[in-house]
Amino acid sequence: MGFVEDIYAEMYPELLRSGGLIKPVKGYTLREIRIRPVFSEVHPLGADLSSTIGPVKLNFSLLSAAMDAVSGPDMAKALFEVGGCGILCWHPQAKVQLGWLEKVLSHKPCLVSKPEFLRQNHTLADVKDILDGCGFSTIPVLAKDRLLVGVIFTRDISFDRHLPERVKKWMKPRSQLKVERAETPFETIRDRLLDEPECSVLPIFDENDRFQGIYFMKDFFVAKPAWHNGKPLVGIAIGVEKSDLKRANQALEMGAGIIVIDSSHGNCPAVIKQAKAVVEMARDRAAIIAGNIADIDGYLRLAQVGVHGVKCGIGPGSTCTTSQVTGAGFPMFTLIRELSFIREKMVAKHEHAPAIIPDGSIEGPGDMVIALAAGGDVCMSGKWLVAASESLSFQKFGADDEGFVQYWGMASPRAIKARMARSRYQGKTAPEGEEGKVKHRGPLKKWIGGDIELIKGGFAHAGAANLAALHEFGNRPIAFVRFTQAGQNQIGTRLD
Ligand code: XMP
Repeated sequence: MGFVEDIYAEMYPELLRSGGLIKPVKGYTLREIRIRPVFSEVHPLGADLSSTIGPVKLNFSLLSAAMDAVSGPDMAKALFEVGGCGILCWHPQAKVQLGWLEKVLSHKPCLVSKPEFLRQNHTLADVKDILDGCGFSTIPVLAKDRLLVGVIFTRDISFDRHLPERVKKWMKPRSQLKVERAETPFETIRDRLLDEPECSVLPIFDENDRFQGIYFMKDFFVAKPAWHNGKPLVGIAIGVEKSDLKRANQALEMGAGIIVIDSSHGNCPAVIKQAKAVVEMARDRAAIIAGNIADIDGYLRLAQVGVHGVKCGIGPGSTCTTSQVTGAGFPMFTLIRELSFIREKMVAKHEHAPAIIPDGSIEGPGDMVIALAAGGDVCMSGKWLVAASESLSFQKFGADDEGFVQYWGMASPRAIKARMARSRYQGKTAPEGEEGKVKHRGPLKKWIGGDIELIKGGFAHAGAANLAALHEFGNRPIAFVRFTQAGQNQIGTRLD
């Protein structure tokens, strides 16, 4: 511990002088800190939000929290499409979690494989019903055996005058459509849709000329999928049991890009041992992350067994009551700053160090910018993402009458009862979590593009074109300001 104490003493010289007896460390949450806008030549939409965790590259440095209200296969598919990564929550049955993994790994980004479709003898009144009901403006027309005969483009139709007429008369026939084969790589499809004139949709076919689905140009505006060894990037959370090791091995064989050893207290022998075993098993085929920790010692111990990323945060989660009920916790901003201090020392000495992954209290773009500027490499969030239609909670229960999606912590009474918490909380039965709710925001891809724009805006305010530049900014003495209570109230009002 001597070394760690020395680091703390270097960080907090005043503590050393007082022997730590009089004043405790001052800890700041993300919410009370903002970055200072400075001279910037970075375009508001110009920043690169990519980041790495060992062998894995993300185009958008966000992971979904491995919570049973948040992260199932649909969340992972949606996040993958925008360049982030879903961490499939631990499930008591390995075959369920690995089944989810299989689904994500075989996912074709942006492909609508079962679109609403029409028959040739439908009328324009039927077309209008679809347009008014679901908002779909471009609809394939299929004959028997999934044969595509044409596509209806509603923008070309003046409905009022022609409602009783047949679809056949108004569709663009297949002979005039641009099409693709099912095995065509994603990048080719994207380039055709974004670059070729008159190509706003691409239907695709199998070798027997059967319709397999359709790509729509608008879905490609925010798509920036993060691939790992040619497969969609997706991760799974495991615990510290022997059976979890077997599960991790199967996931690695299948092609999982990230394995998270997930614990409410990661700086302990069981987690460190499991992390070491998974690192050795994975041999750099995937990024291995372990956590959560709330001190430099935890970061260093996990670094020593070779993990690629360390998840930090004990207490700040939106459904977390740990600080309240156990008396233990540490605020996120100060924690990230401490870890970035030691990471930089490690990089200077060894040229690499585990990625810092803040987890808890990152509820939207603003929080993410502060967490990254403070020194985070990749963020993890539950509350922000549970608002999406792809969250497990929304899929199971929908939204309430006021449009809110219910969610719950992994150590809440509900998760404990469902045994979903067993992995992360190692059999504990007294709750350290509660329930919450967030306004439903619809399918992720409908709104995450706006949030990504705001994050890029934050980078631009700091004059940072990428994460390395943002970290450099965060190390400037003037980078951060702590708002007074009045200032915080003011921001709070504006954010509402
Ligand atoms: P946010 O704030 O993004 O936090 O919703 C997500 C993270 O919170 C942690 N978590 C919990 N912590 N009791 C806790 O003390 C709980 O019941 C609980 N459930 C989740 C976890 O790290 C998650 O990623």
